[in-house]
This record gives sequence, structure tokens and C-alpha cells, in this order.
Amino acid sequence: MIASGRVLILGAQGQLGIELQKAFQGAGEVAALGREWCDLAHPEVIRAAMDEMRPGIVLNAAAYTAVDRAESQPELAMLVNGEAPGVLAKEARKIGALLVHYSTDYVFDGSKTGPWVEDDAVNPLNEYGRSKLAGERKIALAGGQYLIFRTSWVYSPHGTNFLRTMLRLGREREHLRVVNDQIGAPTTAAALARATRAVVDQIASGFEFADSGIYHMTCAGATSWCGFAQEIFRRAQAPEGKSWPVVTGIPHTEYPTAAKRPKNSVLSNAKLLSRFGVELPAWEDALAETLEEAKVQ
Ligand SMILES: NC(=O)c1ccc[n+]([C@@H]2O[C@H](COP(=O)([O-])OP(=O)(O)OC[C@H]3O[C@@H](n4cnc5c(N)ncnc54)[C@H](OP(=O)(O)O)[C@@H]3O)[C@@H](O)[C@H]2O)c1
Repeated sequence: MIASGRVLILGAQGQLGIELQKAFQGAGEVAALGREWCDLAHPEVIRAAMDEMRPGIVLNAAAYTAVDRAESQPELAMLVNGEAPGVLAKEARKIGALLVHYSTDYVFDGSKTGPWVEDDAVNPLNEYGRSKLAGERKIALAGGQYLIFRTSWVYSPHGTNFLRTMLRLGREREHLRVVNDQIGAPTTAAALARATRAVVDQIASGFEFADSGIYHMTCAGATSWCGFAQEIFRRAQAPEGKSWPVVTGIPHTEYPTAAKRPKNSVLSNAKLLSRFGVELPAWEDALAETLEEAKVQ
């Protein structure tokens, strides 16, 4: 059984951190800390925050998420994504708290044909993926109670993400060329946060040590970046007097980025469903909801 008590959310101003604060309304005492109060690059700050807050559950939505920048800042990415989760996990274990952490499809190399399952061999292609994988391993090694939710292609009405980039470019250009040979499941931070709440609600009264582990957690279905862009422009309302741009698919080789990305990022959510009975919406429905909520149409 996990300790009950305060829910501590880290990464308060990030896409997921914002949505977790909404999803955990009414879940008792909830505290949310941003980088200014808990900078994961400083282990002593993490220890002090955990000591002061003494949470029953820690939801760690803070991470170094600049995938391309991580190629030139691998040490910082490793500190925040690789080392800090281990510090958090050790602190959580000391006080009997459950650590809920988020990881990524980028731990895989994309070479599989079907959806990736939790036990598939990892082989990250970029520094961000390597740092997130190190974080997963450090958490497991700490020996406490934890859930790691691997997710993909996260977006919301806030922050820097593919949806907001497309809507901005869509207002500026008549034609967009978007990668069509990398596939994954676009996942809204809201769907992720609600699924997290659903899992936490279930386990709060009966978490078994054996439940600790990695679970894939993405919206249902899959598409390419190009398919995602086309769906955004199909559903979003165009600016007055204008139409959205034509979107053409291109191979990733025509859109070079600092970090390599997997060809197939699709994760199987079967383990999450079978253990917790939790399922996220289809990615198209989650997109419609986000467009509606954000009034960005
Ligand atoms: N975004 C995706 O496509 C994606 C895909 C797969 C998995 N994930 C995982 O999902 C989780 C949530 O991601 P997200 O999309 O919500 O990311 P996000 O919007 O970039 O938010 C991350 C938050 O972490 C904070 N942060 C960065 N460095 C920090 C540090 N040293 N100490 C404390 N806070 C720090 C950021 O603060 P600043 O604003 O001050 O930098 C930001 O508020 C992460 O674990 C991420 O790795 C994300």
C-alpha cells in the first residue's frame, strides 16, 4: 500500500504539469512546484523539497524536453532526465511515497513493425532518449514504489509543441511540407493527466509492490507528422478570409534535425488497460477537444 497524503506535482508550468493540476483538483492536498522552487539540476534542492513537502505521491512532469538541443547539451539533459529521477525515487522510498514519472517513445529505435510493448529492447537514437532511459533505470534501481508512464508526441494549448507550431506556420504560409515517414500517437497532456488520475485513484487504496514498473500511455491510434498536420488543418477553423495551407508529405531526410527520431514510435497500451482498465481517447478526438478548449480554431 502507498502512503496517502499530499500530492506533489513537479514541472508545474509545463504542458503536463498544468493539466495534472487540473486533473488532480479534488484529490486532497495538492502542491505544484515549478523550476524556481525545485530545480532538478540540483540534487540537494530535490532532497530539500521532498523533505519539506513529504508527499504521499509525487507526479514528476518536469523534464529537459528540448530534443534537438539535447544533442549539444547532453550533460544537462542527463542531469535533469537521467540523474534527478533517481534522486527523487530514493527520497520517495525513504518516506514511503509513490513516484509517478513520465518517459518517452524515444527510448526505442523505431525499427519494429508493430506497436512497441514495455519489454521490447530499448535502443535510443538520440541524447534525449538516452537521458530518459537512464532516468527509468535509476528509478527502478532505487527500489521504491513507482509508475513510469512512457508517452509520445505530447501537446496542449500551452508551450512549444507541434499543434501550436502548425497553427502558427499555417497562418504564415500557403504550403507546408511535413515528414510522413515517422509514425506515432499524438497525445494530449490533458488525456495523459486524466489517465494518470484514473490510475492513481485506483491504486491509492491498494498499490501492490508488483505494480511498480513501466506502462505505455498514449492516445489511441497512430499517424505520421504529416497526417497529424493534415488533421489539425481539417479540424481547426481557418483565420478569417484565409484558408489553411496545403500539406505535402516528405521523407525525414528532407527535414534534417539535430536529433535522430524513430521511424515507428507507436506504443502498445495493452498493459495499462489490462492492469488498470485505463484507456486514452483516439488521438483525433483528443485533438478535437484540445482545439475546442483552447479556442485556437
Ligand atoms: N513533449 C513531448 O512530446 C513528450 C513526448 C514523450 C514524453 N514526454 C515526457 O512527458 C513529460 C512531460 O513533458 P511536457 O510535454 O509537459 O514537457 P514541457 O512542456 O517541456 O514541460 C517540462 C517542464 O519541466 C521544466 N523543467 C525543465 N528543466 C527543469 C529543471 N532543471 N528543473 C525543474 N523543472 C525543469 C520546464 O520548465 P521551463 O519551462 O522552465 O524549462 C517545464 O515546465 C516529460 O517527462 C517528458 O519527457 C514528453
